[in-house]
Amino acid sequence: MKIILLGAPGAGKGTQAKRLAEKYEIPHISTGDIFRANIKNATPIGVVAKSYIDKGQLVPDEVTVEIVKQRLQEEDAEKGYLLDGFPRNIFQAEELDKFSNVEKVVDINVDLDKLLARITGRRVCPKCGESYHVTMLNGSTTCSHCGGELVQRPDDNEETVKSRLSVYEKQTAPLIEYYKKAGKLVTVDGDKAIDEVFKAIVEVLG
Ligand code: AP5
Repeated sequence: MKIILLGAPGAGKGTQAKRLAEKYEIPHISTGDIFRANIKNATPIGVVAKSYIDKGQLVPDEVTVEIVKQRLQEEDAEKGYLLDGFPRNIFQAEELDKFSNVEKVVDINVDLDKLLARITGRRVCPKCGESYHVTMLNGSTTCSHCGGELVQRPDDNEETVKSRLSVYEKQTAPLIEYYKKAGKLVTVDGDKAIDEVFKAIVEVLG
């Protein structure tokens, strides 16, 4: 199963991808996670990526496309994969078409005006990657899975989130039409409880 999860920042792509990857036993490939790992390890890619991510802008296509191209050549992605955060503009989608044949594109649809609160309230575990919203935590600051101390992503501040949402509208939203035309698009309502969204995705994937 070769799947793309499409959706605005905060729509729930990462939350759902984690669950879907377990269910379908395919790798969850998140370009955002790959960049954050590079930033943590201070690699040359990490240095470039940080300068764009901090401003809420897209990392240049030549860097991003090459990373995904190489990752999809790894053995675990032969049978299928779940792409989260890629492609993010028409150019990336056209490049992806040249090296892989995506079967379905799931658009997780949430009104943009609800997303600012979702993202600024997100807390993540740097140890295991689990993601929470402050409203679920009842004041706790530790991860219920591994006990790690929860943190806020540096790009989850209000100013950067506004820029990310604007980039989404201009550059990423046109992919909805792109994949509709290709007959690959399925849409789910992302403004429901996490378990309900998961069920809806499993249903549309058939
Ligand atoms: P990336 O890491 O991909 O961030 P994003 O697309 O902005 O998406 P998010 O991780 O913010 O949101 P999400 O949809 O995964 O939501 P989540 O499940 O966490 O990219 C970061 C940056 O890297 C980009 O800005 C760019 O600079 C760069 N980059 C990445 N890919 C790139 C590419 N292809 N090209 C160029 N640059 C690239 O959920 C959010 C919150 O909501 C959580 O708190 C969660 O608990 C909560 N939540 C989730 N679902 C629900 C629900 N159903 N109801 C209520 N709350 C929910």
